[in-house]
Amino acid sequence: MRCEVPMWYEVPKFRALAGSLRIRGDKSISHRAVMLSALCQGKTKIYNLSSSDDVKRTCDIVQSLGVGLNSSGGFVEISGKGIYLNPPEKILYAGNSGTTARIFSTILSAQKFPSVLDGDESLRRRPMLRVVEPLRKLGAKIWGREGGNRLPLVFEGIGGFSKGGEFDMEISSAQVKTALLLANLWSSEPVKVREKIKSRDHTERMLPYFSIEVVRQPDGFIFCKGKPKTPELLKIPGDISSASFIIASAILGKGSEVEISDVLLNPTRTGFISAVKSMGADVRVEVVGEEVGEHFGFCLARYCGTLKNNEFSGEWIPLIIDEIPILSICAIFSEGVFSVRDAKELRVKETDRIYAICSNLRNLGIDVQEYEDGFSFEGLGESAYRVFTKDYYINTFYDHRIAMSFFVFGMLIPGRLFLDDVNCISVSYPEFFDDIKSLGKT
Ligand code: S3P
Repeated sequence: MRCEVPMWYEVPKFRALAGSLRIRGDKSISHRAVMLSALCQGKTKIYNLSSSDDVKRTCDIVQSLGVGLNSSGGFVEISGKGIYLNPPEKILYAGNSGTTARIFSTILSAQKFPSVLDGDESLRRRPMLRVVEPLRKLGAKIWGREGGNRLPLVFEGIGGFSKGGEFDMEISSAQVKTALLLANLWSSEPVKVREKIKSRDHTERMLPYFSIEVVRQPDGFIFCKGKPKTPELLKIPGDISSASFIIASAILGKGSEVEISDVLLNPTRTGFISAVKSMGADVRVEVVGEEVGEHFGFCLARYCGTLKNNEFSGEWIPLIIDEIPILSICAIFSEGVFSVRDAKELRVKETDRIYAICSNLRNLGIDVQEYEDGFSFEGLGESAYRVFTKDYYINTFYDHRIAMSFFVFGMLIPGRLFLDDVNCISVSYPEFFDDIKSLGKT
């Protein structure tokens, strides 16, 4: 727990957004691009890499492992070292980034030297056994608090995996899937993984660009073959999760109309758009091209009146997992019951997001039912634009997505809304304030 006295930030009033926007590279794809480029011999130029703090942590770690990194003119050039990297001189720091910590657990386990991986207070609370246990089954030697469930973790570095394996994933997690798929780079026997519910598939799409074959078996298991070779150039489409805050502001702000170009339109990531469309929102997308196996294009979002709430569970959840906080804000301004179930994973994100959403909604006077795996409440519809007339103080729990979600809420209500922290927003979307300001109409 941080115990600083909050510097309350008052959210500015922007009742509508209008204009066009291009967003920096997708965070999930950026992590993978940096890691795979680091593991190739030779140079890879990455265009439009995410500027997020999380991706900076991935860049710092590859540099600590001897990989060269140079930025100029919208490109980051990575000088990779092949699958065996150099021993670091210090503890490797993943900051707030679960993706960095989980995927590096594989890379560090397979190196020929010991290393220590740590994170910030939030990441130290997040579960790591989901990658540590399967990696141990491959022969990895990993130690940490609670049997290896919590950072900091110590990796012996065993110089490759002594065994292959087959892993049926109980939870839907692209981080775990990626950690296991990448284990194939250091294993002579296949490391196979099968998901019950499909999670984001950027790794599977990117690997062939690094000359790695992805094998899909009829029984649903996948694994990969080959050593990474540089594709020389990668271009990263705009971050669709960051875009969701702009899209939400546009569909909720009366008179809004926003066009976002060159944004990622991977179907495992556009769940938020499908969700708000299922509620009646006017959002149109069009694919205009493909980069790194990923569709990208434009997204046009505009206000079209009050939406109707819906219930989201099962296969919906991995597709909207990062967007549930902002979807909940959309639900306040919509009519009918909004519910999220089967989303227990939200309890182990940057913060317990079920608690963070429910406690803040209660703070606003909304009657919300909280479940172990989700929550539900009745939207206020049109009256939401009028009834919130007081001063509201929001606890962000230092979670970037909670902060941005309630920022959007604060822009639209008549009362004043204060956030206890906005610095956390740079974890995923440092340009958030500038982008909102450039489009905002008071
Ligand atoms: C991510 C996967 C998701 C997501 C996270 C980024 C990734 O986590 O919530 O923000 O880049 O693979 P899980 O894989 O744990 O669901």
